Amino acid sequence: MAISDVQLLHAWRDVLTLSNLKKGEAVTILSSNDTNQQNLNAARNAVIDLGGILTVIELPPTNGDLALSRDKTAFIGRTPLDGNKAAMAALKHSDLVIDLMLLLFSPEQAEILKGGTRMLLAVEPPEVLTRLKPTVEDKRRVTAAASILRKAKTMKVTSKAGTMMECELGDYPILTEYGFVDEPGRWDHWPSGFLATWPNEQTARGSMVIDRGDILLPFKSYVQSPITLKIENGYITKIEGEFDAEFLRSYMDSFHDREVYAISHIGWGLQPRAQWTALGLYDKEATLGMDARAFYGNFLFSTGPNPEAGGKRNTPCHIDIPLRNCSLSLDGVAMTINGKVVVADQMAA
Ligand SMILES: [Fe+2]
Repeated sequence: MAISDVQLLHAWRDVLTLSNLKKGEAVTILSSNDTNQQNLNAARNAVIDLGGILTVIELPPTNGDLALSRDKTAFIGRTPLDGNKAAMAALKHSDLVIDLMLLLFSPEQAEILKGGTRMLLAVEPPEVLTRLKPTVEDKRRVTAAASILRKAKTMKVTSKAGTMMECELGDYPILTEYGFVDEPGRWDHWPSGFLATWPNEQTARGSMVIDRGDILLPFKSYVQSPITLKIENGYITKIEGEFDAEFLRSYMDSFHDREVYAISHIGWGLQPRAQWTALGLYDKEATLGMDARAFYGNFLFSTGPNPEAGGKRNTPCHIDIPLRNCSLSLDGVAMTINGKVVVADQMAA
């Protein structure tokens, strides 16, 4: 169902209020030709309503000739900010940037955040933003789990389908996504509700079984035949299975880049309002699939780049893979068991 302009305006007001937008702050909205116009209008009006000093920048699309689809995550790293000194100056001088375009994984995003600018990414359609509008409770749940993840030295993930993956932790930061930006230099994505980190280089090992019903992004497809990934020294070294395995292998091979096969961020979903089934109801180009990335109790792992964590692996192929029914433990303590969150539930009790 569509969302009314008024309802969306209220949602934007609420999220910008949670993001501590104060009267007189410089706010820049970054848009492109495929930015959702209802979102753009609502964001613009909410900023003005809250007393922000508004600038809107529209940049041309890039990478369209390189990506295999129009999905914003299909080819990442290089953005229209590359070499655009005027836009960069405006963004760096902003207190808050609202990214309706997708700067994720770009060096420019890191440079803007370094100066203390807050940055909120929002590219999902209005009804998804509204349904998954973040709350203070979302932040509490994610940051409580992050305080455990921050101290962990090892992660182990198993499943009845056959997953048995281990890695060491501690060299890379923790990524908390709760959907608003309430601190200087903070980046977040509305909607979200999960946390992640990156394995220490060359420590991820074992095998990962992507079972029937698990999701491949950016394909936005539910796997029909299990895929087994063999992982050695932080890289996927074998992809086995039937059609789905062949499809994944062929896509990754097409980048001709070994770094595509590295394990990237790993973590788990903590958003009770996100739904495993939501992706099945959408046209592929209408959503980024944040329900899939955030649904409660998923194990979300990914492949490819790690510049957002301060790493040097800059590769344009990034695949997010949310798995159901996994058991994830940190230093032997269970965070999820068979896809059910255990720690957050205990903390909430
Ligand atoms: Fe990702």
